[in-house]
Amino acid sequence: MSHLVAPSVLSANFANLQQDIEMINASKADWFHVDIMDGVFVPNISFGFPVLKVIQQLAKKPLDVHLMIVDPDRYAQAFKDAGANTLTFHLEACTHLHRSVQNIKNLGMKAGVAINPHTPVHLLEDIIADIDLVCVMSVNPGFGGQKFIENTYTKIKSLKEMILRRGSKALIEIDGGVDLQNYKKLVSSGADVLVAGNTVFSSSDPKQTILDLKQI
Ligand code: DX5
Ligand code: ZN
Repeated sequence: MSHLVAPSVLSANFANLQQDIEMINASKADWFHVDIMDGVFVPNISFGFPVLKVIQQLAKKPLDVHLMIVDPDRYAQAFKDAGANTLTFHLEACTHLHRSVQNIKNLGMKAGVAINPHTPVHLLEDIIADIDLVCVMSVNPGFGGQKFIENTYTKIKSLKEMILRRGSKALIEIDGGVDLQNYKKLVSSGADVLVAGNTVFSSSDPKQTILDLKQI
């Protein structure tokens, strides 16, 4: 499988969201990455269901919803109703992660688990066979446009080794600071999905930048 590219809507122009969603529809992007922040789990608030429903109505590609919120189980059904195809919870926000993952799958969504930069990959050992995606945070979650953390490459390699050893089908997604300088090394290290916010939306030609991120 060639790698996927998921532009992060967080960096879109909210004064004209429709235009940016249509740009992604018309581009080579594979998914929409949608960041939900509650101001508690992370020091920022993004947007909630009214905006997500607009994205759902306009988007013609799967919605990859990344929850940076406390008590994410409480909202799983609501995110299913709002069109999430993949729903990703943070390991650091879940006490009973195994149950949370089963719940997401029972609701008919793909289950993702995100890990913060300080969280070691080995904590996923006993859940990796059950999940569809691991979102490796390559910045501290909360904001777009931050600097990529170099230790991420080591984490990708350990994770890939674990996925193969455990016979897991989980995709490795990299979220934060992905740009045109580091994306090839990320893919060659084992990344399957690249999230890109600032790199796409600060570009003078976002559609071309998405295409560039697809080239290997
Ligand atoms: C960060 C979010 C990211 C963010 C990535 O907390 O989870 O998805 O939008 O933005 P860039 O690509 O600008 O680092
Ligand atoms: Zn994200």
